[in-house]
Amino acid sequence: MYFDFYGLRENPFNVTSDPDFLYLSTSHKEALNHLLYGVDNRKGFIEVTGEVGSGKTTLCKALMHRLGDNVEISLVFNSSLPDTQLLEAVCDDFGIKPERRAKVAFIKALNSFLLEQLRNNRNCVLIVDEAQNLKPSTLETMRMLSNLETNKEKLIQIILVGQPQLRDKLNLPSMLQLRQRISVRFHLTPLEKNEILPYVRHRLGVAGSEGDITFSPEALEMISSYSKGIPRLVNLVCDKSLLFGFVRETKFIDGDLVDQSIKEIEGSYPLVMA
Ligand SMILES: Nc1ncnc2c1ncn2[C@@H]1O[C@H](COP(=O)(O)OP(=O)(O)O)[C@@H](O)[C@H]1O
Ligand SMILES: [Mg+2]
Repeated sequence: MYFDFYGLRENPFNVTSDPDFLYLSTSHKEALNHLLYGVDNRKGFIEVTGEVGSGKTTLCKALMHRLGDNVEISLVFNSSLPDTQLLEAVCDDFGIKPERRAKVAFIKALNSFLLEQLRNNRNCVLIVDEAQNLKPSTLETMRMLSNLETNKEKLIQIILVGQPQLRDKLNLPSMLQLRQRISVRFHLTPLEKNEILPYVRHRLGVAGSEGDITFSPEALEMISSYSKGIPRLVNLVCDKSLLFGFVRETKFIDGDLVDQSIKEIEGSYPLVMA
């Protein structure tokens, strides 16, 4: 609603995971490189962890855009599915139609599909988002999938993406076999303090801003300390601050506006009674 006032085409601080807005912070760039390396070199299991709102889903989507045409991708968001349904979702993504709707049939069909892809010089990637919710039985199925290999190569690269609890889950003694198969690991860290301004500018730019929206040093300091560099929180505060700026008819976001925004987000903004 404030877009016209600021000359923006769209909301710059939406909290959806839109990869078009990706800002390559040091950590996001490294994460993406690890993922691309792991997939290209058929590393089998890859683990990515990060706090809520740190950009994991955005990263997965950005990865999908960057993988070449010779890669088949399945992206599973609903990681709490029972394993047969999860396998069904993966088959569906790959366009595989198994003979029967049963676990063995899914695995058999997946195996022949993966072998065929290898013969055609193609790679296959399974990305599981919110993987900290995977049930032990589903994790075991993942391990079985990663067992599908030729003498030389992994047929499928499995990327487990999740909150830090994922690591705890994989550290359980019963997960030893799976854990030993993880060859690439990365923890996505929040934005550094000096990355907040470029991040904010980047998102404004993608949304169409011509650079006339400015943030005072005090405003940036407050955004940084409130968000601790978590992009999702930066977005929430910036969105509110632009809204309050619009109400005040200014394109200069100062500490006052940010303070109001944080108070509103925290639910402590004093309501003005009519
Ligand atoms: N590197 C980044 N560049 C641009 N926006 C980002 C970045 N990281 C996170 N965001 C934004 O922060 C919000 C939360 O990101 P998301 O990927 O949903 O986090 P997670 O999946 O880790 O909870 C989204 O609006 C997303 O677009
Ligand atoms: Mg997510």
